[in-house]
Amino acid sequence: MNAFASSLSGVKTPGSARPLQIGPLVVDPPVVLAPMAGVTNYPFRKICREFGAPLCVSEMVLASGVSRPNAETSMKTSFGEDEHPRSIQLYGVDPRTLSEATKRLVEDGKVDHIDLNFGCPMKKVTSKGGGAAICVKPKLLARLVRSVASSSQGVPVTAKFRAGIDASLSTFLDAGRACEAEGCVAVGLHARTAEMLYAGQADWSNIAELVNALSIPVLGNGDIFRGSDARKMMDQTGCAGVIIGRGCLGYPWLFREIESSLKGHDVPLNPTLGEVREVILRHVQLALEWSSTWTEEKYLIRSLRKVIKWYLTGYSIPSVVMGQLMSADSFTELSWYLHTLDDRQCPPSEGDRKPRTVKKEFYQKVKIPASYLLTRDDDQLPGKDAEGDASCG
Ligand SMILES: Cc1cc2nc3c(=O)[nH]c(=O)nc-3n(C[C@H](O)[C@H](O)[C@H](O)COP(=O)(O)O)c2cc1C
Repeated sequence: MNAFASSLSGVKTPGSARPLQIGPLVVDPPVVLAPMAGVTNYPFRKICREFGAPLCVSEMVLASGVSRPNAETSMKTSFGEDEHPRSIQLYGVDPRTLSEATKRLVEDGKVDHIDLNFGCPMKKVTSKGGGAAICVKPKLLARLVRSVASSSQGVPVTAKFRAGIDASLSTFLDAGRACEAEGCVAVGLHARTAEMLYAGQADWSNIAELVNALSIPVLGNGDIFRGSDARKMMDQTGCAGVIIGRGCLGYPWLFREIESSLKGHDVPLNPTLGEVREVILRHVQLALEWSSTWTEEKYLIRSLRKVIKWYLTGYSIPSVVMGQLMSADSFTELSWYLHTLDDRQCPPSEGDRKPRTVKKEFYQKVKIPASYLLTRDDDQLPGKDAEGDASCG
């Protein structure tokens, strides 16, 4: 089938994925590293970029923290000299605070893109009317988005949300329309409800519905673990691009796979253990340089233990060596133990692409304020306690 025929039938041929346009930003290939708390800091973003991820979103930052930065916020809002585009995820429940934070980030020249988080499913946040509960009230969502879009001085604003609260309360269509009307240049949909946390399967048909409902680009999110999944999601839903979360934890090679798959090229082989070792050491080295002013080497190395485990998932690692790696306190020790492993070891043929995360993989009962269902059509703000620390989505 030629390109014209395939565009008529809506069937995409390999290589048909177009660069994603987010306002003035061209994202090519159309792939975004998801904001992930405790994960998408500068060192990991740099690694992902080197593997071909063109847009890498920071960890979520509270708008109230941007206005009064403490050490943690300063760390979360720090970008590498070489990092462009600089993409930050913001969350807040007060338009004035959101607007101030946006102005500050833009005027300090810190960011090229702002993503808003309206997907947090955690009880302590939704029960106060924040996170995913904001999407229950589209006018409230619109008010918050407006406060950012009208202060961003041309810096493109996007929003990321979930499919809804639970199977009986879907919110993504109204949320998408509100974001589009208020100036978002694209939206991201994690196609799970808040009830699902990270369990079950993302319902990609929601992504297709949103694509049909909006004129702005929709980024599909949920359950992309190999290159072919990204192609499949784009083909099945018509989404303009994909957002990658758990699939790249310990496996930044996924971005290379996705690029090859979207271009219709052969997917590169899974990395040998020797290649994995080099990337682990590079990640740790970057993290050490990045954090040297606020943390000691031993604490940094300890904080990276879960990350090292993610990288080694699927490889056969003798338990003695894993024990040594998990008790190492310095780069030198880590490097020494990693060099005792067999460089040539390949992962099992398909590798192990199970979600590598500590996130909750069971359903929960979602709590939202009782008044929310009676007042879905107003834009009244929740209290400050709805801000919580909505650092997931
Ligand atoms: C460790 C972790 C931290 C996360 N933190 C955030 C966050 O701060 N903001 C956000 O919008 N989503 C957050 N998420 C959700 C992801 O961005 C993504 O929507 C979700 O993992 C689904 O995509 P996946 O199936 O590719 O993992 C987090 C997910 C994980 C696993």
